[in-house]
Amino acid sequence: MKIALVGGTGDIGTGFAVRWGQKHEIIIGSRNVDKAKESAAVVLQILGAVGNVQGTDNASAIAAADVVVLCVPYEHLASVTTGLLDSYKSQLVISPVVPMTYNGKFFQYHPPAEGSAALLARSLLPKSVRVVSAFHTICAAALQNIGRILKADAFICGDDAQAMDIAVELAGEIKSLRPLNAGPLAASPMLESLTPFLLNVARKNKIKDAGIAVVSERNV
Ligand SMILES: NC(=O)c1ccc[n+]([C@@H]2O[C@H](COP(=O)([O-])OP(=O)(O)OC[C@H]3O[C@@H](n4cnc5c(N)ncnc54)[C@H](OP(=O)(O)O)[C@@H]3O)[C@@H](O)[C@H]2O)c1
Repeated sequence: MKIALVGGTGDIGTGFAVRWGQKHEIIIGSRNVDKAKESAAVVLQILGAVGNVQGTDNASAIAAADVVVLCVPYEHLASVTTGLLDSYKSQLVISPVVPMTYNGKFFQYHPPAEGSAALLARSLLPKSVRVVSAFHTICAAALQNIGRILKADAFICGDDAQAMDIAVELAGEIKSLRPLNAGPLAASPMLESLTPFLLNVARKNKIKDAGIAVVSERNV
């Protein structure tokens, strides 16, 4: 698959490029082509000869891709998305974007009027584009460390079955994340709000690179 990472020069974008760059064609997007190329070179150094990673501007990255991952901070989601609308055709868009604020004491979920970042993206993107919400509780630092075996679950929600299958497949390729179907895109506020919750728990209890996993308490 060709995967565009919009704002892929940042923390989570680098993590996805490292994890998917051996099997897929990764196109790191940026507002600055040189910055994107530098990021691609860094990821290729990690992956070696098996890596398939390039850098370009966000618009070209989206236009060339089958899957687009929105790797920008929430405050820039609307402007970045509307500014790049011409580049979309019928891609699958994955939103790991979390709208949250920090009041000096703790993190809070702070969604837009649409209900969530993913629903905001859905409202802005062409109808031909399918939107999936995923990866909000996956730690970028852990993703970037290719030797790290992740123990977390990846919660994924969306309205299109085929798009969900692709997102589940991509999550399952990250060793050894467990993809979990969390329902329709309308459930995205619940997924996104797990991140400020997780960060608060991690902070208070001094847990580094925290993640969330659902366990079964059924005795076998
Ligand atoms: N970090 C995590 O552990 C993590 C985990 C789960 C989900 N997320 C979510 O993933 C998204 C990205 O997080 P991140 O930590 O990777 O963010 P980041 O490193 O702070 O920023 C990502 C990229 O966004 C672009 N950007 C910054 N300001 C912009 C602007 N004004 N207009 C357009 N693009 C701009 C930059 O790319 P260019 O300068 O190259 O254009 C930057 O490299 C966020 O929505 C976050 O909630 C993060």
